[in-house]
Amino acid sequence: MRIARSLSELKNSLDSLQASQKKVGFVPTMGALHSGHIALVNEAARQCEVVVCSIFVNPTQFNDPADFEKYPRTDEADIEALCETRGDIIYFPKYEELYPANQAKLIDYTDEELYAVFEGKFRPGHFQGVVTVVMRLFAHVQPNVAFFGLKDYQQFLVIQRATPHFFPNIEIKGVATVRNNEGLALSSRNKRLNETELVQAQTISAVLKKIATAGPATDIATLEAEGKATLQAKGFDTEYLAICNAKNLHHLANWHEAENYIAVCAAYINGVRLIDNYLF
Ligand code: PAF
Repeated sequence: MRIARSLSELKNSLDSLQASQKKVGFVPTMGALHSGHIALVNEAARQCEVVVCSIFVNPTQFNDPADFEKYPRTDEADIEALCETRGDIIYFPKYEELYPANQAKLIDYTDEELYAVFEGKFRPGHFQGVVTVVMRLFAHVQPNVAFFGLKDYQQFLVIQRATPHFFPNIEIKGVATVRNNEGLALSSRNKRLNETELVQAQTISAVLKKIATAGPATDIATLEAEGKATLQAKGFDTEYLAICNAKNLHHLANWHEAENYIAVCAAYINGVRLIDNYLF
């Protein structure tokens, strides 16, 4: 495993692997790696000849500076975990190489539909920051394929739509959410939960699974209201719980408005914001 701590080190590592003649897979992360990230790297290694994983806690995608400060940073453990995979390069980009002083901070791109709902609505500026950093990382790594976890489903859709505008030849692939035995979606934010809260957090996936299992046999408003009531009873502060068209995240009033569905949720547990979804 090579470690690159600047763009020039990344280029040297890619050259030494003759990456320009090979299929390069890329897994961008913010570190604090868990089995969900490892699944992304393994999937990239299954499909590609060279695998690059980046670790960069991107300040421009945090609408709350306190959340950015509190974001777990575990570089040494992350390097150890990646050395156990078939990845080839760990890239720790330099802030000033992603955000050069002589360049506009954020790239000029918007997705009016996806930026206005759910994560886009509750975290203003979040997707501008995500798209900016991902497109700049793509420019550095120049991958053939990039892999994203479907736990951040809206992020996956945003990036899938944005990429062809900047890099028409990069393919975007989604990888299924990894869950623990109790159904809790793995997330770096889970590191901020104590034992009791970790048990409490399972309610989110249980509620989503119940919605997915009930499906079109019950009306949408009833399923959403029941789910919100369960979350409230378990002490969550729910930001959204909605049943949507999986293609575009349009909130559905009736089942016949879509063919594939997704139930999406964001809820706080003692100040820690968790998101999850179920596709069905
Ligand atoms: O999903 C994440 O970890 C981040 O949003 C990403 C894609 C690495 C961009 O900073």
